[in-house]
Amino acid sequence: MACRSEEILDALVKEARKVSFEGKVANYIPALQKESPDHLSCALVYPDGDCFSAGDIQRKFTLQSISKIITLAIVLMDYGPEHVFHRVGMEPTGDPFNSIIKLETSSKAKPLNPMINAGALAVTSMIKGSNAEEKVEYIMDFVRKLTNEPDIDYCEEVAISEFTTSFLNRSLCFYMKGDGVIHGNVEEIMEVYTKQCAIRMNCLQLARMGVVFAMDGLNPVTNEQVMPKEVARICKTFMVTCGMYNASGEFAIRIGIPAKSGVSGGIMGSVPGRMGIGIFGPALNEVGNSHTGLKLLELLQDKYDLSMF
Ligand code: DON
Repeated sequence: MACRSEEILDALVKEARKVSFEGKVANYIPALQKESPDHLSCALVYPDGDCFSAGDIQRKFTLQSISKIITLAIVLMDYGPEHVFHRVGMEPTGDPFNSIIKLETSSKAKPLNPMINAGALAVTSMIKGSNAEEKVEYIMDFVRKLTNEPDIDYCEEVAISEFTTSFLNRSLCFYMKGDGVIHGNVEEIMEVYTKQCAIRMNCLQLARMGVVFAMDGLNPVTNEQVMPKEVARICKTFMVTCGMYNASGEFAIRIGIPAKSGVSGGIMGSVPGRMGIGIFGPALNEVGNSHTGLKLLELLQDKYDLSMF
């Protein structure tokens, strides 16, 4: 069964919004703390092109960690899985997304997976281009193909806010560079990374990206295969095992769909063969997932049996 009623979706969004007071807007990136915790918007996009949305759908937000799926797809296409997994692992960590601890305790500073910050920085260090600007444009072009929106851009204010305060991410880079896991200029990697994290869109555009992964890389609007099936499969698998940080196991049990969240409060869901989901709810729980977004997904799961398990 699928939710094809805006009225019902609207009622579920209103219900989920009630728990917003239990969450907190991220503040470690200063520019993110301006968001209002009681905002919640959602869009569902189906393979036949139908879409349903609820809440203030115009409201844009930055992708933050959701961008890690995009850069992962790009490097998998450019270098192939073997090369990529030589630099970054495939295992969940059970640690917070910005933890440095496993870099020290695992052999060489190879990050355990591409969804934690260390792994995503290693992935970003592989993006092709002769300077930061070219690399960012390369990422943006792929996002535009996924969303069918030529105007997608990044938020300069959020990018600068993170670039100037992100000392932990710089430390992760230097640690990996020290062990030869990444090469290149750390400031340039940080510039590309903070800009990819600051890519902004609304939840309808996010759901459009989600449906492409759900459809094994086929963009159902343009009928273009924008990535090989194998790449979409690997991305969706990481979304299941590591997409919701160190709460991915619980999420797999409670909701059971490939999903990726970001600290801005975005969640992209890709229900295989069925739909793309875009949610924006900036009130976060203690691990950094959207608290209202999770509540909404729970309501959707109860009503429409989203789980793939
Ligand atoms: O690097 C950071 O901390 C943020 N730009 C993104 C963090 C985030 O969304 C959660 N990470 N998995």
